Amino acid sequence: MNPFRRFWQTVYRSVFRVGIPKTNLGRAQAMVSSFLLHLHPAKVRRDSLRPTRTFGLGLITLYLFIILVVSGVLLMFHYVPSVERAYDSVRDLSFVVTAGVLLRNCHRWAAHLMVVAIVLHMARVFLMGAYKAPRQFNWGVGVGLFLLTLFLSFTGYLLPWDQLAFWAITVGTSIAAYAPGVGELTRFSLLGGNIVGQASLLRFYVLHVVVLPAAAILMIAVHLYRIRKDGGLAHPDEDQPTVEEGEAPPPQKSYGLMALTESSTPYVGRDPGKEVFAWPHLLIREVLLFVGTFSVVLLLAIFFDAPLEELANPIHPPNPAKAPWYFLALQELVAHSAFLGGVIIPGALVLALILLPYLDRRRVGIGRWFARERWLANGTFLLVLLALAILTVIATFFRGPNWDWVWPWAAGG
Ligand code: HEM
Repeated sequence: MNPFRRFWQTVYRSVFRVGIPKTNLGRAQAMVSSFLLHLHPAKVRRDSLRPTRTFGLGLITLYLFIILVVSGVLLMFHYVPSVERAYDSVRDLSFVVTAGVLLRNCHRWAAHLMVVAIVLHMARVFLMGAYKAPRQFNWGVGVGLFLLTLFLSFTGYLLPWDQLAFWAITVGTSIAAYAPGVGELTRFSLLGGNIVGQASLLRFYVLHVVVLPAAAILMIAVHLYRIRKDGGLAHPDEDQPTVEEGEAPPPQKSYGLMALTESSTPYVGRDPGKEVFAWPHLLIREVLLFVGTFSVVLLLAIFFDAPLEELANPIHPPNPAKAPWYFLALQELVAHSAFLGGVIIPGALVLALILLPYLDRRRVGIGRWFARERWLANGTFLLVLLALAILTVIATFFRGPNWDWVWPWAAGG
């Protein structure tokens, strides 16, 4: 063999122990021997690959997070977290830095999309009853990730230091102050004072680029690990009224090649005839989904610029000053009753989400869309989502100066 080719092969094999697999054993080994691929099992259920099973929403959320981390690190090379220079450094991205505007737009649209994707992912998991045993803990990790995502987006909002950022954060943090006992302290600690200023910008920056992403990476790792350990995706076979409520279904005997690679809690009803190798069936879908997700972000970034208003002016509040869109439902509730809307209702919703899998333990309707047996749970969930969506629409379009009702189509409304 040509010495150059031999040298190249030696280097290649030192990195990728298994080449492109051609046998079933090779396909399983490829999964086990690579750091990234070993997150997958060697084989997956054929029906879990159907697009309508998950709509790829968990993966889309993951991909958006990765796009955010990469574009965020690149933005950090230019951004300066100081009240004097933050605004100019963001504006320079549009006019001075090569491809800066594209970078900023990608980061901004990916952040909005991630909030949308995570809500849809959570809804998918809920509607399929996939939070039940053995996935209660992973659902809880998910609730943590959801709150982290909102907080990540919120802390990023202040960084451009324009009017939009300044007043959205002023409103957002004043909502936090309604929490009984700890509210004022939370607001003060978050802002590093009583008003949004240099201390707030630095705190938001450190939270946004170090603390929250680090926490999110750790929790995503736990989340993905638990998906494997909980036996893969929830499946209708897990409907077992005979299994005691809240208990995971009993592990099944493993067989053959799977014994090497399966998750520690194999799912019930494992049938080799209904499984396919993750290489290439799952991998190819994952790659395509990434290409699709990235393309959407890129297209949005090319055609729509992220907003940048005038420089923040602490003595000139816009009227009305609105929170970021994902907190607008909260702002609308607070406008009616600060304590009930700002504390009791959101607190009760988060608590209900965390406790849900420990309260609803009937082993019915798992892994199926809109199972009839789950009409009450699914109906309640959808009603709450609908109510939040209506409140968001009202706050976005029907609220004018002093939070008075306006008709958006009325002249000057
Ligand atoms: C950064 C945020 C998140 C990422 C990256 C993520 C990622 C994923 C992925 C890749 C899956 C595999 C199946 C799928 O694609 O749907 C999954 C499943 C799951 N996720 Fe998430 N997720 C996140 C947030 C959440 C949230 C907010 C919840 C719920 C509160 C949640 C609960 C679950 C549960 C229980 C499963 C197992 C579902 C099943 O077995 O069918 N996740 N997640």
